[in-house]
Amino acid sequence: MHMLRDSCSVFISLVAKMDTQVVGHILFTPVCLRLKEGNEINGMGLGPLAVLPEFQNKGIGSALCQEGLRRLASDGYPFVIVLGHPS
Ligand SMILES: CC(C)(COP(=O)(O)OP(=O)(O)OC[C@H]1O[C@@H](n2cnc3c(N)ncnc32)[C@H](O)[C@@H]1OP(=O)(O)O)[C@@H](O)C(=O)NCCC(=O)NCCS
Repeated sequence: MHMLRDSCSVFISLVAKMDTQVVGHILFTPVCLRLKEGNEINGMGLGPLAVLPEFQNKGIGSALCQEGLRRLASDGYPFVIVLGHPS
């Protein structure tokens, strides 16, 4: 994750906090889609996303996703992709 963040000039990194404790994190970094016609579209990739086990299933992961997507839409990004294990 540090390598990903260090290699990107633009990224969105959000944390969820309970009092002073960080309990969740989400990272969005740039992705470029190259179309058949040769055009390129710039969007963002979501990941990693993680919530501490004892705070899971309380809506924190969803809230991090929604806030990140809200900010990306407001910044004009046309798409977000998710890479990861299918399960
Ligand atoms: C995935 C994760 C971030 C979800 O965070 P969370 O705060 O528990 O999520 P929420 O409470 O907002 O939402 C829970 C919902 O996500 C679903 N969910 C949890 N893990 C999931 C997974 N790996 N795949 C699909 N759905 C998942 C739950 O079934 C639940 O669905 P429901 O609302 O329909 O019942 C958290 O379980 C986690 O940190 N897991 C370990 C790390 C991980 O697998 N990260 C994703 C890949 S980078």
